[in-house]
Amino acid sequence: MIRSMRPVIVAGNWKMHTTPADAGELARTIAARTCVDGVVRVLCPPFVCLAAVRDAVAGPDAAAPDGSGVAVGAQDVHHEPAGAFTGAVSAPMLAGLATWTIVGHSERRRDVCETDELIGRKLATSRAAGLRTILCVGEQLAEREAGRAIQVVDGQVRGCLAAATPEAIVAGDTLGFAIAYEPVWAIGTGRNARGADAAEIAAAIRATLTALGFPNGGEDVPILYGGSVASSNIDEFMAEPSIDGALVGGASLKPDEMAAIVARAGLTAAARAAADA
Ligand code: PGA
Repeated sequence: MIRSMRPVIVAGNWKMHTTPADAGELARTIAARTCVDGVVRVLCPPFVCLAAVRDAVAGPDAAAPDGSGVAVGAQDVHHEPAGAFTGAVSAPMLAGLATWTIVGHSERRRDVCETDELIGRKLATSRAAGLRTILCVGEQLAEREAGRAIQVVDGQVRGCLAAATPEAIVAGDTLGFAIAYEPVWAIGTGRNARGADAAEIAAAIRATLTALGFPNGGEDVPILYGGSVASSNIDEFMAEPSIDGALVGGASLKPDEMAAIVARAGLTAAARAAADA
């Protein structure tokens, strides 16, 4: 499989921003300004804003694999489908609200001590519920400076994928499973990684997926870059053949930024489509 067949994805992670009163308007504005052929768009608002965003973008069914609509994603999900877990939200509960989930974000690893094993269970329960899932991995600054970035990310990927078979994770959906490489030191800092460094990690991730027995050697799993992505640096990542889009935090709350980021990603999508033709 050649890389041009992989979809291009731009996902916005709104983190703990917006309210049910204003999320719909923001989503509607972003959706209207990011209608670009070939780019799969996903907006991930806080749980309490999922319904407002769903309504604003005309429902999760708009998550057409061809990228014609904006999909809605949850920023996290519990690792069990139901039970006595106060304050938690399970994957089956998201039916009708979201079609995507993010698991393993570094802020959750940091703030609530999520482990690879737990994140793997979140991935498995998401996929079992039919939710498309973005798994986040990435090294700390000290780990990169010690020359251990590839080793750390390889360990995270293996740890998170231990709970389910590659076939169950992919489940025949080209958008079912994506990985976001997000170096922790680049998140929210304004200090993005270099495109070449992100590409090196993406290649290492695909080598891990190959070793784990992913269909087609993991070549068809989209790998996104995340960490201070903005309109000013998105080109650097989209220029890398191994990078298939971006997970955008702060800039995803700004319609101007999202419009520019998706437009630039659209150029890559068009180039890939032309290469396939
Ligand atoms: P940032 O966040 O774009 O604000 O750095 C990215 C992320 O946390 O996914």
